[in-house]
Amino acid sequence: MSKDSLIQDQAFAAVADDLAAEGFSVRDDLIPNAILSPLAKHLRSLPESAFQAAGIGRQQNFGQDASVRNDYIRWLDQSHPAEAAWLEVMAYLQQFLNRQLFLGLFSYESHVARYAPGARYQKHVDAFRGEANRILSTVLYLNEDWPASNGGELLLYAPDQPEQVLRRIQPEFGRMCIFLSEEFPHEVLPASHSRWSIAGWFRLNASSGRRIDPPE
Ligand code: OGA
Ligand code: MN
Repeated sequence: MSKDSLIQDQAFAAVADDLAAEGFSVRDDLIPNAILSPLAKHLRSLPESAFQAAGIGRQQNFGQDASVRNDYIRWLDQSHPAEAAWLEVMAYLQQFLNRQLFLGLFSYESHVARYAPGARYQKHVDAFRGEANRILSTVLYLNEDWPASNGGELLLYAPDQPEQVLRRIQPEFGRMCIFLSEEFPHEVLPASHSRWSIAGWFRLNASSGRRIDPPE
């Protein structure tokens, strides 16, 4: 095993410990720079036409409400090497967490999101109890030189007291926040500058009968 993967295993083990203890983890050292830098460069160079207005809900429940969220997104896939490298790290994290925590994570989907100055995403949860197949949410930040005065924090609220702010997370380059999708209400505050993040979700395989979920 290479030195790099040992370092990564140590960082991932810290995430597993955080999740077991608190249900969330905020870490700055999870994604190697060799993956982070080309990814940020690639995503930031995409034309505006590559993005779509973000929606809320899935499939039949899908809708758009700019008062809830007004960011622009693009789903990531294997077709670009920088995106493929990102998805490979996340597949490794999936395997790692399944071994450590027996979560039964089955797949991972993620999109880049661009919040224009003033854009926000109101308080929400990423999965609803019962119907949930989103188990674990991840958010990676791609904002270099981001002073606190830029705003754009992620507010993570307490599961049992949804009015209580548990953490205020500055969206700084390379920082990653991982939390149980059903448990933690969260909110994106408006920023004074364009704010870039990659949000993603580890999911269970919720296939049943003739319905294939997640879709191909
Ligand atoms: C989301 C989300 C948080 C962020 O896309 O569901 O909560 O900080 N994003 O970008
Ligand atoms: Mn969310």
